[in-house]
Amino acid sequence: MKIAFFDTRSYDKASFTKANQGGADGSHPYNYEIDFRDFKLNENTAMTAQGFDVVCVFVNDVVNAEVIDVLKKCGIKLIALRCAGFNNVDLKAAAAAGIKVVRVPAYSPYAVAEHGAALLLSLTRHIPQAYLRTKTANFNIDGLTGRDLHGLTAGILGTGKIGQIMAGILKGFGMKIIAYDPFPNEKWAGETGATYVSKDEIFRQSDVLSLHCPLTEETKHIVNHDTMKMMKQDAVIINTGRGALIDSKALVHALKHGHIGGIGMDVYEEESKYFFSDWSTDIMTDDVLARLLTFPNVIITGHQAFLTTNALKNLADTTLENIKAFAGGEELVNEVK
Ligand SMILES: NC(=O)c1ccc[n+]([C@@H]2O[C@H](COP(=O)([O-])OP(=O)(O)OC[C@H]3O[C@@H](n4cnc5c(N)ncnc54)[C@H](O)[C@@H]3O)[C@@H](O)[C@H]2O)c1
Repeated sequence: MKIAFFDTRSYDKASFTKANQGGADGSHPYNYEIDFRDFKLNENTAMTAQGFDVVCVFVNDVVNAEVIDVLKKCGIKLIALRCAGFNNVDLKAAAAAGIKVVRVPAYSPYAVAEHGAALLLSLTRHIPQAYLRTKTANFNIDGLTGRDLHGLTAGILGTGKIGQIMAGILKGFGMKIIAYDPFPNEKWAGETGATYVSKDEIFRQSDVLSLHCPLTEETKHIVNHDTMKMMKQDAVIINTGRGALIDSKALVHALKHGHIGGIGMDVYEEESKYFFSDWSTDIMTDDVLARLLTFPNVIITGHQAFLTTNALKNLADTTLENIKAFAGGEELVNEVK
């Protein structure tokens, strides 16, 4: 199989090269021909897939109908997502083109949930500010008053793999767990002591609202002007899901007017232009992102929640297994339909 690998970072190249050679002991090599490219797949780059069998893509590659049309003409037979979310792929267009789509449904839900917890503690205990102060020998702690998480209510929006682990971590802090999911998992709730509530109630009751649902037409801007107005004024939001779960302009408004207490976000609605690159010496034209970066009660990380050694190994192993199954005409257990 010849694989055109888009939006490559150094850690992708390292983990996929190792997995392709058969892992640590080299026992089960795939030996696929992988062409690592540092640019994204989009309307301008799709034609570079000519001569390959598979495109391997990540969260900010554009796989819309126009791109899929070009991929089909290039002879691409498989779109292999090296991520869980598939909101960037036009599945109808892929099906119409006869191109299969596979993904990695779980590579380390712990990595993402633990990063969410890191964002939460950083936010509630002002760790970025404290770090910057002590780096310059400023040990003044004025303005760094935090909040006990113990006894507060955590709202888990989406109780799938990551949401359940996040709930377990927050329960460990002594928080009360409430949840919203259109497909409630009552068995899990019973075992954890979590309580399912309505969508409105999760916004009303949560002191910490953590987003773990996929981005769909239904969940786009699920956090918006109206839902943020329902929230407690000192409530914080943690978003390790997808940027467009939150209406970013409404978020700036809510932060400016004190409708919410803060946010820790690993994803941003318009992240595709900026995230995964160094823009520190450029002029930022995204005024919403620029404004968000100025708030003391906003912490942004650049879509790194997945980035652990465990997750990278699992991503590479599962992606190459998906491709192997396709090449061998086997059942595609991780197909997205
Ligand atoms: N930041 C990162 O690095 C990173 C990494 C992996 C995944 N993610 C994101 O996290 C999301 C969750 O991942 P997961 O593995 O837990 O997925 P999952 O499929 O196991 O769980 C998603 C849950 O969301 C629920 N859901 C669906 N529609 C909903 C709605 N309208 N309201 C509330 N809940 C709804 C589903 O019923 C399911 O229980 C992914 O879709 C992806 O977007 C982010």
